[in-house]
Amino acid sequence: MSNNLLNGKKGIIFGALDDKSIAWAVAEKCVEQGAEIVLTNAPVALRFGAINQLAEKLNTIVIPCDATDMEQIETLFTQSMEHLGGKVDFVLHAIGMSINVRKKRSYTDLNHEWMKKTFDISAISFHRVMQVAYKMDAINDWGSIVALTYMAAQRTFPDYSEMAESKALLESFARSFGYHYGVRNKVRVNTISQSPTVTTAGSGVKGFDSFFDYADQMSPLGNASAASCADYCVAMFSDLTKMITMQNLFHDGGFSMMGINAAALQS
Ligand SMILES: NC(=O)c1ccc[n+]([C@@H]2O[C@H](COP(=O)([O-])OP(=O)(O)OC[C@H]3O[C@@H](n4cnc5c(N)ncnc54)[C@H](O)[C@@H]3O)[C@@H](O)[C@H]2O)c1
Repeated sequence: MSNNLLNGKKGIIFGALDDKSIAWAVAEKCVEQGAEIVLTNAPVALRFGAINQLAEKLNTIVIPCDATDMEQIETLFTQSMEHLGGKVDFVLHAIGMSINVRKKRSYTDLNHEWMKKTFDISAISFHRVMQVAYKMDAINDWGSIVALTYMAAQRTFPDYSEMAESKALLESFARSFGYHYGVRNKVRVNTISQSPTVTTAGSGVKGFDSFFDYADQMSPLGNASAASCADYCVAMFSDLTKMITMQNLFHDGGFSMMGINAAALQS
């Protein structure tokens, strides 16, 4: 159902790999709500992912961009503005990857070169994207930037490994850049801290299935789905949330405020 919340708005969506990706659901909902969008992902993801199918369905284009490469980000913004016919109003950063997690290295035996790569891809890319947009003045006043994060930035989830530090860095960039972008352009910058969600990145974390069930039982509303995360992103891109900035917003069915409940005690 559309309320045309994003009528006339233009956006760039990073991170749709396949139909399980949270960014995939966000792209669909943004278009449903009247936005015009450009999709982007790393060149390698374009080869083995399904993003071109999404572009066809949503009648838009895919611009390849490795989010760790400043030149590619500049090209992305230039080509997006050409395609959309002007500056953008919103950006979704839905990017995460850890080689140490992928290779199942234990937290007490991490490869630090891989760790730097993880931080670059999963967190510093957020600063890169904002810095390029800021310098190019590519985002309209009162625009909205959202990145997806996870509660391991605040609490310990041992198997989330170095992604915890990536998310802490990501959330800090939202606060710091949110200050500068707010002062200059009234652009707001927030992170949405999402429930465990069955996706390629999510399922790559050791013990994901049992943790997913635990979080689902512990949350009074159950785990938030990718579709409901997409609804929240739409709200954050719309004009109904203009005064929210520099926040980390939990979208987790209440999990982050729980201590214990009967279901968790019994299982
Ligand atoms: N799935 C979960 O449980 C969960 C929970 C909270 C937050 N998140 C976050 O949501 C975001 C989206 O992840 P997802 O769960 O939809 O998984 P996903 O695997 O579908 O998406 C991750 C995306 O990152 C992209 N990417 C990797 N390296 C890149 C690079 N160098 N340049 C550009 N893009 C690159 C991948 O191609 C992929 O599209 C991530 O930030 C993730 O940490 C996920």
